[in-house]
Amino acid sequence: MKAILKRTRPLRGEIAVEPDKSISHRGIIFSSLARGTAAVRNILLAEDTMSTIDCMRSLGIDIEVLPELVKIRGQGINGLQESRDVLNCGNSGTTMRLLSGLLSSQPFLSVLSGDKSLNRRPMQRVIDPLVKMGAQIWGRDNNRYAPLAIKGQKLTGIEYSLPVASAQIKTAVILAGLNSEGYCRIKEQVRSRDHSERMLKAMGANIRVEDLEVEVLSGNELHPIDFTVPGDISSAAFFIAAAVLVPGSEIIISQVGVNPTRSGFIQVMQAMGGNIVLENQRLISGEPVADLVVKSSHLKSISLEENIIPTLIDEIPVLAVAMALAEGRSTVRGAGELRVKESDRIKAICTELQKMGVAILEEDDGFVIEGDPGRLRGTSVESWGDHRIAMSLAIAAMVAEGETTIHGADVVNISFPSFWDLLSRLTREK
Ligand code: S3P
Repeated sequence: MKAILKRTRPLRGEIAVEPDKSISHRGIIFSSLARGTAAVRNILLAEDTMSTIDCMRSLGIDIEVLPELVKIRGQGINGLQESRDVLNCGNSGTTMRLLSGLLSSQPFLSVLSGDKSLNRRPMQRVIDPLVKMGAQIWGRDNNRYAPLAIKGQKLTGIEYSLPVASAQIKTAVILAGLNSEGYCRIKEQVRSRDHSERMLKAMGANIRVEDLEVEVLSGNELHPIDFTVPGDISSAAFFIAAAVLVPGSEIIISQVGVNPTRSGFIQVMQAMGGNIVLENQRLISGEPVADLVVKSSHLKSISLEENIIPTLIDEIPVLAVAMALAEGRSTVRGAGELRVKESDRIKAICTELQKMGVAILEEDDGFVIEGDPGRLRGTSVESWGDHRIAMSLAIAAMVAEGETTIHGADVVNISFPSFWDLLSRLTREK
């Protein structure tokens, strides 16, 4: 599918974005390991989380998707069954990496595979700590890539320092640690998203967090919890950027997750001059949420260094669009991880924004942008099969002169099926 967009009128109105993808994946997997039924409201039903639901169903878990909620009938940590087929993780790195951790301790054989993009993404980073715990895992090309074959084993806990800031690796080790002998201690250099720690603690897991260390001990039965998933800050980011960039806009995005390990995008946009106010800050099911009031604003440039990157890693492509329209030179460094996401996001965003006339220079671990509020030109661009690139380009198209055609635009269904509807709802004449 291709999307054709023109410069839009101001965005007005109140919306709720899709539920948080990271929390939804965890809700499905962790609830499957509890003993009893969990009712989860507002779970994301997009392609990525459907991959997780399908995999858990193949492992014997009954998951009922009702209009208002999803019921997950957990069987306990040792209640999974061998799948009769390959577990298809689709485009979802979170599904594959989290399941690798979980399945390493299950007494049966599992084979995990994904689409073309996922089977090119690095898996050694998750295989390494699991093998240290005693896991038997084999991957394509000397254990570098999926498909992965896992023969479940009895595992022993480890002390492990994460070589990259990655909540997926951290959670894979935590999941293995929940079912291994002795304790697991995981050290991070920079804190990655902590949804797993929050949710597992609420479910009664023996898990302790201190500064940059997480300690897990097996033995505690997980109990099911009913909870509500907040709106995804990573999805809200597109409409935050659009409302800040399109003159005369004013929108409210309700019930967005603003967990400090995820909300770097808001801080950075505010530091650039973006008018974003957090109202009704509260906790929903152990996660901080707020209603965001966003108004159009004049942006100035900013430089981002390595330490803040994990708190906004998925928002960098749309941040590049905001930087392209901000006054002055902006830089992003220490973001090499972007090269191994659903696409090489550094190359993708630099290539496509250059086509739109932006002065953006690709670097090994980031980029440099000479911002210019009047520079964006509509043209023909590509999504690179990556949902966040497609949506970032849509926001660029809303402020570009002329018409933009985005090829491969249907990929937004990976995380944000209602994206186009919300976009037209906010820009409709009132
Ligand atoms: C995710 C963690 C991040 C992020 C991804 C979702 C998660 O990946 O980019 O979209 O749910 O744990 P890494 O853990 O590889 O940094």
